[in-house]
Amino acid sequence: MKIPIARSCLLESEINSVLEPLRSGWLVQGPKVKEFEDKWCAFTGTQNSIAVTSCTSGLLLSLAASGFGPGDEAIVPAFTWISTANVVENLGGKVVFCDIDLQTFNIDITKIESKVTERTKAILPVHLFGLSADMGPIVELANKYNWFVVEDAACGLGAKYKGLHVGSFGNTGCFSFHPRKAITTGEGGMVTTNDDGLAEKIRRLRDHGAAMTDLQRHLGSSPYLLADHPDAGYNQRMTDLQAAIGSAQMDRADVIVSERQALAKKYDDAFAKLDWLRTPFRGNDYEHGYQSYPCFFMPEEISVSSVKEINANRNKWMDDLQKSGISTRPATHAVHMLSFYKEKYNLIPEDFPNAYAADQCSISLPLFHGLKEDEQDFVIEKVLEFKR
Ligand SMILES: Cc1ncc(COP(=O)(O)O)c(C=O)c1O
Repeated sequence: MKIPIARSCLLESEINSVLEPLRSGWLVQGPKVKEFEDKWCAFTGTQNSIAVTSCTSGLLLSLAASGFGPGDEAIVPAFTWISTANVVENLGGKVVFCDIDLQTFNIDITKIESKVTERTKAILPVHLFGLSADMGPIVELANKYNWFVVEDAACGLGAKYKGLHVGSFGNTGCFSFHPRKAITTGEGGMVTTNDDGLAEKIRRLRDHGAAMTDLQRHLGSSPYLLADHPDAGYNQRMTDLQAAIGSAQMDRADVIVSERQALAKKYDDAFAKLDWLRTPFRGNDYEHGYQSYPCFFMPEEISVSSVKEINANRNKWMDDLQKSGISTRPATHAVHMLSFYKEKYNLIPEDFPNAYAADQCSISLPLFHGLKEDEQDFVIEKVLEFKR
């Protein structure tokens, strides 16, 4: 049996949905994009949704819309996908890393305030792997210091904090539709915001800074009227082909999230007695969306001096699982250890010891909707066979 870490699972009707825009001839930023955005608002309970080319472009447009630029600092968790930090650099800003909490893999809220300088303008909390960051204290700090909050909700479909969907706490929230995410459009992203003025600005920035959309122009009565461009924007428009596939999947978004939660529960129950494997955090205030199933290997033995040995054991176990046909991955990166950031900011792994430990000692097991019962049973059987 071969079990991938993730497998996108589209229904025939979802695949066929791409034919409608192809036949209509409206291929970019048209009615299907609008339909997808409306369904996203309904699902997340947010006022505005803006479809873009990726989560990364959503993060960039959000920060750009806030006026973030050269000399400004943004606080970013040290354990995340690199693009959470890259967008800060791309706009000429400075990344200020903050360590994470090893129970949740998310930013450690007790360490945020020590990162503040007079140049801090923004914070990008990440809802890693589908678990919300602790948004209450983060929003409180943001209000206190007047920060712009961009939620990196790339993995956040179905993730809730105190009953509210992620993407509704910050100034914006940014989601990804990369194939490893619960809903995929190949590439693609969505920005959510409850601020109508900000939504308008982001809509403009995604479309070359144009004050009028293509759809408005085409439906208008004056052929000589071109849009004005109040901003030097970007081209981050989603195609209607992508939006058609995304919109079709939204009709079963609840089912997709429930299936992922049920798969996670089965793993949780099967591994509950293992002291050498810590399964993903569950807490009363949190509903996990399970974009993936990240575990911590040998959590009880973790210390700065033990990381190397635990990492060697984890890697050997990952190799053994691979030989049995089961794909696993480290959960994500300690971004401060990647060459660009390590060299630019002269960082060492121990500067953010928890991010370093998470990078070296985490393991994500296969979890995706469409994972078959015998496939999951096989993963469970092989994990339980592990001998320390
Ligand atoms: C936490 C996080 N942020 C940002 C991204 C980037 O998303 P995209 O590939 O849609 O730009 C990812 C993608 O995996 C991610 O996991």
